[in-house]
Amino acid sequence: MKDKKTFPESFLWGASTSAFQIEGAYLEDGKGLSTTDCRNVPEGIADGKVASDHYHHVDEDLQLMKDLGIQIYRFSFNWARIMPDGKHVNEKGLQFYDHIIDTCIKNGIIPFPTLYHFEMPQALVDAYGGWKSRECIDDYVNYASICFKRWKDQVPYWATINEQLIASAASDLNGNKESSQKIKDMYQMSYHMSLAEKKAMKLLKQISPNTKVGVVCSMQVIYPASSKPEDIQAAYDAQDMLQNMLLDMSVYGRYPQRVTHYLKENELYPITEVQDEEILTSSKPDFIGVNYYASNCVKAKDITEDESKLPPFYRNQLFSMASNEHLKKTKWMEFGIDPKGLEIGIQQLFERYHLPVMITENGLAYSDELKDGKIEDDYRIEYLKEHMEVCHDLIKQGYPLFGYCPWSLIDVLSSHQGFAKRYGLIYIDRSDTDVKECKRIPKNSFYWYQKTIKENAI
Ligand code: BG6
Repeated sequence: MKDKKTFPESFLWGASTSAFQIEGAYLEDGKGLSTTDCRNVPEGIADGKVASDHYHHVDEDLQLMKDLGIQIYRFSFNWARIMPDGKHVNEKGLQFYDHIIDTCIKNGIIPFPTLYHFEMPQALVDAYGGWKSRECIDDYVNYASICFKRWKDQVPYWATINEQLIASAASDLNGNKESSQKIKDMYQMSYHMSLAEKKAMKLLKQISPNTKVGVVCSMQVIYPASSKPEDIQAAYDAQDMLQNMLLDMSVYGRYPQRVTHYLKENELYPITEVQDEEILTSSKPDFIGVNYYASNCVKAKDITEDESKLPPFYRNQLFSMASNEHLKKTKWMEFGIDPKGLEIGIQQLFERYHLPVMITENGLAYSDELKDGKIEDDYRIEYLKEHMEVCHDLIKQGYPLFGYCPWSLIDVLSSHQGFAKRYGLIYIDRSDTDVKECKRIPKNSFYWYQKTIKENAI
């Protein structure tokens, strides 16, 4: 038997979820409508009204976390549960999260909330278009301030915005239905998010100087489709447009030159104000949260490509998506499974930003099937193990990787594919069309991960 790979004592084993993907109870106890409650979900796919019914199973889920043995729990606050209209506080919403935070601490689990994970009060979109407007910056900072003040003594790690790339591009999530095709809006919204996050980071340090704040990116590992110089250039451009643009702003308060030039040349550069530079350079994150599922491959721009079906951030003059023939693909992992990509991605990230890194999401999507009351998800164990081995190697190489949170603790409503696509360590017994009782059933991966945490080794 191969020697076990042991992790440092201080390494944090965790698990992740997000509010709209698990909570349900979409109008209970004073919660307002979220953007994700108001989107049009295709027939036959579950929406977030019940999701994993976490709101009503919260104690059971907290107990399962304790049984699993995690040391950190990454979750998100639902903005509209805390501020139904985006302006006024709903005490019952705060109490729901008090309960999660208090119980985590009692159970020896560090609570690690994200302020913004793909949803916001629909009222703010109705009032002024949400992130399209600068007004949203102050509303976000006000919301952040309420959370920081409430939990400053209990929460040691915070995240500002989950995956700004997706949050600004996915118009069904950010509520700007009619603007979904306008690329310029996407960049403007993203810019407002950057300003909001910077202001929030600065505020947190005033309220609670010793807490750590991070940004959570959807890490882009981009390979050129060939050694053709044009493909290499396309890969650099994609890296700049999909990742460096956002993280350079978070860390250094500016866009890469290539991005500035492209946005200006194409009249996509956001509208700015004189005071912005001061805001953008006055704070920076303490760490970077990395969400990684798979790598990407690109080639030089194919001008014959039909862009209408591509996500907005791929609609550009610089690169086209390509398939990577070297990777194993599955139904839900269409880009291919690539643990090596995690290593390359973290190395690049560290060399550019020199900040500690936590894996905030990593996991395998699969249409798990319950057989004889069990989920034998050995495919998921294999995926997690391969990626954890990379984490171990990175630490050995000296990279400051301090935690790992698989996506997801329990099955969640996938962002766009309901419950057909699952990631959880714990099965939620419901389908897209039949909510049933949402019984919790730990999968094989749960028990495997439990042992891994206990041994602190893979
Ligand atoms: C990340 C998000 O982008 O990927 C999660 O932070 C999401 O919220 C996860 O669920 C998996 O993506 P999807 O689309 O399969 O749910």
